[in-house]
Amino acid sequence: MVTVVVGMQWGDEGKGKIIDTLAPQHDIVARYQGGANAGHTVVYNNQKFVFHLIPSGLLHKNVVGVLGNGVVIDPVSFFQELTSLEELGINFKNRLFVAKNAHLTLPYHKILDQIEDNKRGKDKLGTTGRGIGTTYTDKYGRIGVRVVDFLNEEVFSRKLKVALELKNYLFEQYYKESIVKAEQIIEEYSKFRMRLKEFAIDVSAYINEALDTGKNVLAEGAQGTFLDIDFGTYPYVTASNPISGGACTGLGISPKRINKIIGVAKAYTTRVGMGPFPTEIEGDLNERLRTVGNEFGATTGRPRRCGWFDAVIVKYAVRLNGIDELIITKLDVLSGLKKVKIGARYLYEGAVVKEYPLDTEIFENVEVEYEELEGWNESINQVSKFSQLPKNAKRYIERIEELVGIKIAAVSVGSSREQIVKR
Ligand code: IMP
Repeated sequence: MVTVVVGMQWGDEGKGKIIDTLAPQHDIVARYQGGANAGHTVVYNNQKFVFHLIPSGLLHKNVVGVLGNGVVIDPVSFFQELTSLEELGINFKNRLFVAKNAHLTLPYHKILDQIEDNKRGKDKLGTTGRGIGTTYTDKYGRIGVRVVDFLNEEVFSRKLKVALELKNYLFEQYYKESIVKAEQIIEEYSKFRMRLKEFAIDVSAYINEALDTGKNVLAEGAQGTFLDIDFGTYPYVTASNPISGGACTGLGISPKRINKIIGVAKAYTTRVGMGPFPTEIEGDLNERLRTVGNEFGATTGRPRRCGWFDAVIVKYAVRLNGIDELIITKLDVLSGLKKVKIGARYLYEGAVVKEYPLDTEIFENVEVEYEELEGWNESINQVSKFSQLPKNAKRYIERIEELVGIKIAAVSVGSSREQIVKR
């Protein structure tokens, strides 16, 4: 059985915690897209674990972690993360695999990502600078370097030189930066070759065989629906497909294999980096949500922009991803607010916009119609049953359900594993 977990907003919905909660019922947790731009934080035994590339379900020792072909792998980040998690007591022996056909993020991808984004000036995207978009550009330009290419020294050096030819021309002539020497990368990266070999497998074959023998796979999406390269707020998006369909192409499994799709949405909305955000809140309330919700990027530390829950986008994400169950996270962050608001509809030039518009020009200029509900003052961190939630918190959840048209299966009320209220 395959279950996919998808972010319903702009990432940072708290998927890490949900994956950690679901992992014990699964044999394999597999990431299908993105790279070291992701950041999943899991709190366990008062210890904070931050995952960037490595699937967050690995805190459970019987779970195997997999990075699918759709993920882009930066060997430096990968081994750094591995070492720091090992220091916290996680053992990865025979329980972490990497797809041979996943593409590698190399030093020039990171340099180019940062230079390109700065060069955009006021139109900058605010990327994480981790070389994600530039690695995917090479993948689709057919000059990428895959794990399997890297494992063969001769193939690696040949491909590296091809990839660097045009980039060095750009670095030198256009960006007036120093060039990147292939020989230097070949030498510096040789230490990773034997180590990476231990992890490299055919992930598609591995997962399909596991499924044939009745194993359960949890496919972990990074980022969120509105950062999707096809359906997000282009060009303010990441360069992969976080939506549920990405699990098929990013792991090498048939759509027929997917049994369940779980959407994760925060009780409000956040976004890091540039791009339109209709329900964004200005001023003190933004600060308050950021402070109480600890809304700072797990990867870059950047403050996240905060806003009200946007039912229009989440409703769109429910259909696009084929969501079976919705989980709402961080409801506790809203405790203490006199009023809470939900972005219920958009208006554009006076007319109702029926759904999330793919035209970024329209999306940037919509006016949001809000529904204002009474807030609740009680702390809800200790609540373990839905019936124990304050009346107004229940009402808030039920109104979201009505607006997005799907049942909310669980609500998270704090950062630790136990703080989850099932319906
Ligand atoms: P990139 O993925 O580094 O190319 O960045 C593109 C956009 O996606 C930027 O707005 C980033 O802030 C955003 N982004 C990338 N990864 C994450 C994430 O894990 N959470 C939230 N935003 C992200």
